Amino acid sequence: MKAIVIDGYGGVDRLSLRDVPRPRPADREVLIRIRASSVNPIDWKLRAGKLRLIHPIKFPAILGFDLAGEVVGRGSGAGKFKDGQRVYARSNKPSGEAYAEFIALEESYVAPCPDGMSFEEAAAIPLAGLTALQALRDHGGIDSGQQVLVNGASGGVGSYAVQIAKACGAIVTGVCGPANVDLVRRFGADHVIDYRSQDPLGGDRKYDIIFDAVATLSFGKARSCMQPKSHFVTTVPGPGVIAAIAIGNVFSRKKASTIMVKPNGADLEYLTGLANAGKLRSEIHKVFGLAEAGAAHLESEGGRARGKIVIRI
Ligand SMILES: NC(=O)c1ccc[n+]([C@@H]2O[C@H](COP(=O)([O-])OP(=O)(O)OC[C@H]3O[C@@H](n4cnc5c(N)ncnc54)[C@H](OP(=O)(O)O)[C@@H]3O)[C@@H](O)[C@H]2O)c1
Repeated sequence: MKAIVIDGYGGVDRLSLRDVPRPRPADREVLIRIRASSVNPIDWKLRAGKLRLIHPIKFPAILGFDLAGEVVGRGSGAGKFKDGQRVYARSNKPSGEAYAEFIALEESYVAPCPDGMSFEEAAAIPLAGLTALQALRDHGGIDSGQQVLVNGASGGVGSYAVQIAKACGAIVTGVCGPANVDLVRRFGADHVIDYRSQDPLGGDRKYDIIFDAVATLSFGKARSCMQPKSHFVTTVPGPGVIAAIAIGNVFSRKKASTIMVKPNGADLEYLTGLANAGKLRSEIHKVFGLAEAGAAHLESEGGRARGKIVIRI
């Protein structure tokens, strides 16, 4: 099969399109023919070696955590999905292995694709959508009527966070740049703050959850915008969050935490349900071919994606 392989840490020139053996499904695994993957910042952070101390990878490695495609086989003990069924997943493999034509994954990480969604739209969801869901639900304890701030509301994680928070009945404020204000409104945000003309933490509104999807806010400053018992969740911890976690969040009822997304088929099925109910959609920034994985990484590294960058396979 064709796959994008890297032999060591480095720039996009490390990404090479090669023929590699097709994986064979082990017990409880399904074999999926991948039709689309999507780019997440972790892909290029891993490629560049930025995470080598906390998340080392073995070479040669195939990157990519998101996939959508069709089931084409299974190992013994796997029977949840039929041949030809359209599925999607966040891979649990250390480097992902989804920039490839096939992947074998344990069934528990896989879910049926949302009805009527293209493979590109479905492949955009898993890692970013699960991050948003687990941050708001498991860390934030989101509830109907709560005030929720999503910083980075036009990006991969933030675009799903706004929609999930709305689906949970929250009153959502999205933070984005001036070019994305209308887009974030279309995701359903009740209020939108353009961070270039207004300080996202400078207003009078008090939030039950602040989800800093792009990790540009300070927890210290955010505290003044938080309800007495509320939660600040970030994707990448800054010094304030690290200090709060280190002392066990004991001196204040305003808690801080860092989301570490977990692959989870049941959570993906929940997102499938939201999409089927018309409450979750994917905004596609750009689609690249498999051989253009380097260009896709550079686009993501630019930090200006509106929604998700997809790789068609
Ligand atoms: N810990 C975990 O489990 C986990 C999981 C997923 C992601 N992450 C991390 O979370 C971060 C975000 O991921 P992502 O996929 O959402 O990234 P992304 O899609 O590449 O984010 C791009 C978006 O960020 C917005 N942005 C840039 N600077 C901003 C600012 N100062 N304020 C508000 N918005 C800003 C941009 O909007 P404008 O063009 O309008 O500025 C753009 O729409 C990455 O660092 C990623 O590695 C961590």
